[in-house]
Amino acid sequence: MKHAVLTSCVMLWVASCQGALEVGYYDKTCPRAEDIVRAQVRKAVGDNAGVGAGLIRLLFHDCFAEGCDASVLLDPTLENPQPEKLGIPNVGSLRGFQVIDAAKHALEEACPETVSCADIVAFAARDASYILSVSDYRIDFNMPAGRFDGRYSNATETLDFLPSPFGNLSELVTKFAAKGLDEEDLVVLSGAHSIGRAHCSSFADRVGSRSDMDPSFKRWLRRRCQADPGDTDSPTVRQDTVTAAVLDSQYYTNVLSHRVLLTSDAALLASRQTARMVREFANGEGKWESKFETAMVKMAGIDVKDGTNGEIRKNCRFVNQQRER
Ligand code: HEM
Ligand SMILES: *[C@@H]1O[C@H](CO)[C@@H](O)[C@H](O)[C@H]1NC(C)=O
Ligand SMILES: *[C@@H]1O[C@H](CO)[C@@H](O)[C@H](O)[C@H]1NC(C)=O
Repeated sequence: MKHAVLTSCVMLWVASCQGALEVGYYDKTCPRAEDIVRAQVRKAVGDNAGVGAGLIRLLFHDCFAEGCDASVLLDPTLENPQPEKLGIPNVGSLRGFQVIDAAKHALEEACPETVSCADIVAFAARDASYILSVSDYRIDFNMPAGRFDGRYSNATETLDFLPSPFGNLSELVTKFAAKGLDEEDLVVLSGAHSIGRAHCSSFADRVGSRSDMDPSFKRWLRRRCQADPGDTDSPTVRQDTVTAAVLDSQYYTNVLSHRVLLTSDAALLASRQTARMVREFANGEGKWESKFETAMVKMAGIDVKDGTNGEIRKNCRFVNQQRER
């Protein structure tokens, strides 16, 4: 396993890892860093498994806009009133921010100004994957670190770079390719939709009109999505109704049986190659889990920053005070 991760990081490094990330990056400067993060993730996921899903999604949304640099964590300020957090794919649906804050707080006590928020996001996504994959095949991998935190965050970019849930296969492939991820990465990483929730507004296109969705599943969703009149928020539905809180390959079985929520999920059957991968991963046997480990490391290496274009934030919600020019 260790070997596989190292090999993939070396390949990634050649391709796009700028500041070469490494496993055990904090071994000397903050040896307990990864334990501290894991303890916070364990606690939060124990209280609410959905937060674990949120943390895995957080890494994806961080990495696709401005690279994996914690730009997604920045709060709106006077200087920057529209950060990524307020982008349409993020506002009202991203969760897990408090876990990152708690981990950062504990890390600042243990080793001040040492561990980047971007690395915390990556560790937390890894840990949530481990904790939620309580099936025959544990998702258990090393997460290389050494990312620095960015100072730029722009809500509009989330729409530019994150794939839309209403998108077709070629759109999804294009958005992933723009980040150095291939078609297999797309199919493999979509398997994260084996946990967590979606708001009914995210798949309204599929229940309100003709779609390939299983008819009884569609009827069930229609009932679930009938918002109670006093509720202004879109209701939510579990993404995987079979093993809702377990990160496993059930997602691919759901794709094949047309019991998935998003147009982008169903789109994985639109080409022969991607459909073949879906069938392969639906077979279980641990194949998807090991591919997911590798793909998460690859995604977590998108456009990472180093000391020349990034910083170690003191508070994950705000950039550090501007230095003297
Ligand atoms: C392939 C393109 C993708 C699209 C279009 C997409 C879209 C979405 C949408 C619309 C939701 C529901 C949000 C809501 O309504 O609350 C969602 C949830 C989720 N996504 Fe994706 N996603 C994609 C890929 C990924 C990837 C690569 C990951 C991580 C590896 C991921 C992890 C998750 C998780 C864990 C949830 C549940 C979040 C929660 O329960 O808080 N998704 N996704
Ligand atoms: C945010 O990005 C868009 C392009 O996606 C750009 O037009 C806009 O000026 C940017 N906003 C800021 C505040 O930089
Ligand atoms: C996919 O969506 C894009 C953008 O909406 C569109 O231009 C394209 O024709 C669609 N492709 C297919 C195969 O439907």
